[in-house]
Amino acid sequence: MWLPCRCTTKYVAASIRRGVSASFLHVLRRGRSSWNSAAFMPESAGFEGVSGRDALHDYSVSHSENFWAAVARQRLNWIRPFDAVQDCDLSQGRIKWFEGGKLNVSVNCLDRHVHTCPERVALIWERDERGSEVRYTYRELLEMTCRLGNLLRRHGVKKGDCVTIYMPTCPLAVASMLACARIGAAHNVVFAGFSSEALAERIRDAQSSTVITVNQGVRGGKITELKRTVDAAVQSCPTVRQVFVAMRTEKRVEMADRDIALEEEMLKEDVVCEPAAMDSEDVLFLLYTSGSTGKPKGLVHTQAGYLLYAALTHRYVFGYHDGDVFGCVADIGWITGHSYTVYGPLANGGTTVLFESTPVYPDPGRYWDMVERLRINQFYGAPTAIRLLIRYGDQWVKKYDRSSLTTLGSVGEPINTEAWEWYNRVVGEGRCPVVDTWWQTETGGICIAPKPSEPDAEIVPGMAMRPFFGIKPVLMDTEGKLLTSNNTSGALCMAQPWPGMARTIHNNHQRFLETYFHPYPGYFFTGDGAYRSQEGYYQITGRLDDVINVSGHRIGTAEIEDVVNQCSAVAESAVIGYSHNIKGQGVYAFVVLKKGVDVQEVDLSKQLNNMVSEKIAKYACPDFIQFAKRLPKTRSGKIMRRVLRKVVDCDLEGLGDLSTLDDPAAVQEIIEGHEKVL
Ligand code: PRX
Repeated sequence: MWLPCRCTTKYVAASIRRGVSASFLHVLRRGRSSWNSAAFMPESAGFEGVSGRDALHDYSVSHSENFWAAVARQRLNWIRPFDAVQDCDLSQGRIKWFEGGKLNVSVNCLDRHVHTCPERVALIWERDERGSEVRYTYRELLEMTCRLGNLLRRHGVKKGDCVTIYMPTCPLAVASMLACARIGAAHNVVFAGFSSEALAERIRDAQSSTVITVNQGVRGGKITELKRTVDAAVQSCPTVRQVFVAMRTEKRVEMADRDIALEEEMLKEDVVCEPAAMDSEDVLFLLYTSGSTGKPKGLVHTQAGYLLYAALTHRYVFGYHDGDVFGCVADIGWITGHSYTVYGPLANGGTTVLFESTPVYPDPGRYWDMVERLRINQFYGAPTAIRLLIRYGDQWVKKYDRSSLTTLGSVGEPINTEAWEWYNRVVGEGRCPVVDTWWQTETGGICIAPKPSEPDAEIVPGMAMRPFFGIKPVLMDTEGKLLTSNNTSGALCMAQPWPGMARTIHNNHQRFLETYFHPYPGYFFTGDGAYRSQEGYYQITGRLDDVINVSGHRIGTAEIEDVVNQCSAVAESAVIGYSHNIKGQGVYAFVVLKKGVDVQEVDLSKQLNNMVSEKIAKYACPDFIQFAKRLPKTRSGKIMRRVLRKVVDCDLEGLGDLSTLDDPAAVQEIIEGHEKVL
């Protein structure tokens, strides 16, 4: 793996010599101050009559163009200023921000900081091996990015191409993302836990000709053969011309003609790489995520709006200040890693932690040992890990000094009250605000969170609460009517566009429109349900579609069914999520075998689990498989999933209206079968 070179380098970035403005630095240098003044948010200095958090939020929604124009001018370095703030129409699914503007995302994340503070630490790589962290300064990260950018260019990667990155969370992965941004290529990071088939599907859909990977991954003390997974994947990807292979371990791997040793080749490259001037609406990256039906969708995020939104939310939701160490433990393969490990912190000139390990390796004190060692100020993790750690007891937390912590963040799934309280009381010693942040791959950044708020404003456990600046959430009833009162629940939609939202689904704009804009014309539909309290605070109640959330990982039940149904013994299946006390949701599969098939259920269960693991990922494997003679269906042949969910939740009283069932006896069979499975 590329390690930082401590000697002075010849680096002088061409872009810096041409003069990158450092105007944003006054923002970074200000002290910790309270609301009620433009000192909190310098960008708001020109907003007349705005004082206090709520007034600023109102202004950001009612004067959206003024708000975003001011923020975009101050936060980002532009090669050419934008002509128009926005051209959006939610009823048409048209979203465009800062058109006419040109910028380079890697310059915004690197060069401008190198200009003012080259030796500031940009990345702290918390390697799997405890206590062996490696720091990279902004100068070193820029150098690495430039070498990589030049290497990609030399191998024919051009503006507009899409590079697939299949790597664990590590500095070269970050440099690969930024190198793509530097030369104008889009990146497509695929979570390194996905199988070769899942990877191949994403490479094909993205039409990538270049893949970047590592020889092996190391996580939780275990080795994963990532290069081998890539080898298997590219066999069915005729577009792939070249695979760059970095060395995470010493182990030599077989190299084919198309394989290129990454570090070796990087050494030959220059440390200055001319940044491409990108249009605001050029593609920055694709990121695949699951929907309720069909294949995973490649959500498209663009340059300026995404970066601006990630930077602003990072700063204000977490109260990030210059010099702080930000510890987001999400994998870079997910949107949380993109926005809050990479782009948000780096755009803000921050120090960001790259966490390669697991919460329990080598022991359940790993997170808090890391907090002590790296002096982490903001810690951002998932409820599933918190629930797991609660089980091991408080001593694993209390052993370590956590006095550096100022804010604790939660993301990816609802945080139950017990987990929230423990996080607050034990980890944060009751002095760090816990911010339950709601957002999605589609939204690009946090949309609802308790912060920013007035300094002493209340935080309600387990509630995301307050919309971020520029965000206008609304709730809809089942008939598509706006619910205007408080103390009500409905489908969560957004009434206004914001710069960070996804622009389309790669190669499938129609699906983008149908999923997000057609259900409630004129609004962006999130797919989630929410409750708005008497006070106007939001609480997410869960998905309204067939997407489930396993350990904070999103997966469509239809994707799992597709795999199960490929087994020659299976006639049909229905997969649902059920409440799981650590993972949040677990996977429960009902499987009907073809007539005359004679197999041992235990063997078949193993086979189905292997298939899901091979075709998707381990986390998608069913926790329970119930073999059934038939599934409860309506007379028109639709599987009644509502009934299956109730059975699995052991809520037989809530089975509801069964009058549309084709054969009510099927339900009784399912109930009896369920009792046996437990
Ligand atoms: O259902 C919501 C849930 O995760 C979904 C988005 O998943 P993904 O695109 O993978 O992004 C996860 C990281 C941002 C949402 O539709 N979700 C996310 N955050 C929360 C949440 N559910 C409840 N509370 C949250 N804070």
